[in-house]
Amino acid sequence: MQLLELVCAAITLPSLAVLAHVDRPTLTVPGLVQIRDILAQLEAPIISTLTERINLATDPTLYSNNGKGLLRFLEQHEVISAASGRYDYGKLEYPFTLPPVAPDVSTSRNAFPPSRFHQDSFSGNENITAFYLNTLVPLFTSKSSFYYHLDNSTINHDAVLNLDATLLALLSHRAHIGKIVAETKYASNVTGFTDLIKAQDAAGIRVLVTNTTQESGVLSQASTAAAAFSDAWSKSGALVPGSFASNLQNATAKLFRELIDITTEIEVQYLLQRLR
Ligand SMILES: *[C@@H]1O[C@H](CO)[C@@H](O)[C@H](O)[C@H]1NC(C)=O
Ligand SMILES: *[C@@H]1O[C@H](CO)[C@@H](O)[C@H](O)[C@H]1NC(C)=O
Ligand SMILES: *[C@@H]1O[C@H](CO)[C@@H](O)[C@H](O)[C@H]1NC(C)=O
Ligand SMILES: *[C@@H]1O[C@H](CO)[C@@H](O)[C@H](O)[C@H]1NC(C)=O
Ligand SMILES: *[C@@H]1O[C@H](CO)[C@@H](O)[C@H](O)[C@H]1NC(C)=O
Repeated sequence: MQLLELVCAAITLPSLAVLAHVDRPTLTVPGLVQIRDILAQLEAPIISTLTERINLATDPTLYSNNGKGLLRFLEQHEVISAASGRYDYGKLEYPFTLPPVAPDVSTSRNAFPPSRFHQDSFSGNENITAFYLNTLVPLFTSKSSFYYHLDNSTINHDAVLNLDATLLALLSHRAHIGKIVAETKYASNVTGFTDLIKAQDAAGIRVLVTNTTQESGVLSQASTAAAAFSDAWSKSGALVPGSFASNLQNATAKLFRELIDITTEIEVQYLLQRLR
């Protein structure tokens, strides 16, 4: 009898894919204040990497054909990263060139109560790549590397692409934390969000998750940090051009504006799929 029940249960299981989801851990998100602290701590590594990248000479052909060379470099590295588990469920790290982790499916046996992370199918990486190639790379205008190379060696593709890859991964991770931001916001207003999600009202969700006071705070903090980084570089005697501070300030402003916009988009897309 018990065996028969097991067999019946097995037969009624919808698919292996859903089985895999049942095995996924229950991940509970931190509170909004803690997440904002984490986001604030990610600001320095991002601006630091941007500073290093701006100080390297750039060969524009690396980014031609919609960033073909950069994407090929990323793919080689992401294959190794994927094998290490870097993009596994709950890591909040999403690859640029490989298929993303499969979304969760909510069932009565595998419920996703408020505050439990629910993987959706949206990745903001396509937007981040477009922003990087179209907006940020044109600001990397340095013809020589203002770095501590004794021989003033002009261009090293590997050093440049490694910094691109690091910066892109930091931006992607920072932006996809939007998924857990969205979960805390959902948990704080289940009734309000449920109505909007059922109506698939993306505009209404966007209004509810947007906080322009918080956005201004993030932008001004990033601006202060960029000034501190360029000051420190100049004071330490780095052979940077006169435009360095202004260039870093401009790039940082564009970068954090994009981060806010793409994070908001990631929040909205997450919530649209939250009840699936
Ligand atoms: C490297 O560049 C700096 C600044 O232009 C210059 O002072 C220095 O002599 C150069 N070093 C070599 C080895 O060319
Ligand atoms: C909850 O969401 C609704 C929109 O559906 C909104 O009108 C209400 O102000 C929200 N409540 C809070 C406390 O944010
Ligand atoms: C918006 O963000 C500010 C600054 O973080 C915070 O003080 C305020 O409570 C937030 N407003 C809402 C409606 O959540
Ligand atoms: C930074 O942006 C300002 C305002 O758009 C512009 O005047 C300035 O030339 C820019 N700096 C650099 C180094 O491009
Ligand atoms: C992301 O990219 C899509 C497609 O190009 C575009 O419609 C959308 O506005 C972008 N979103 C953001 C936040 O940049």
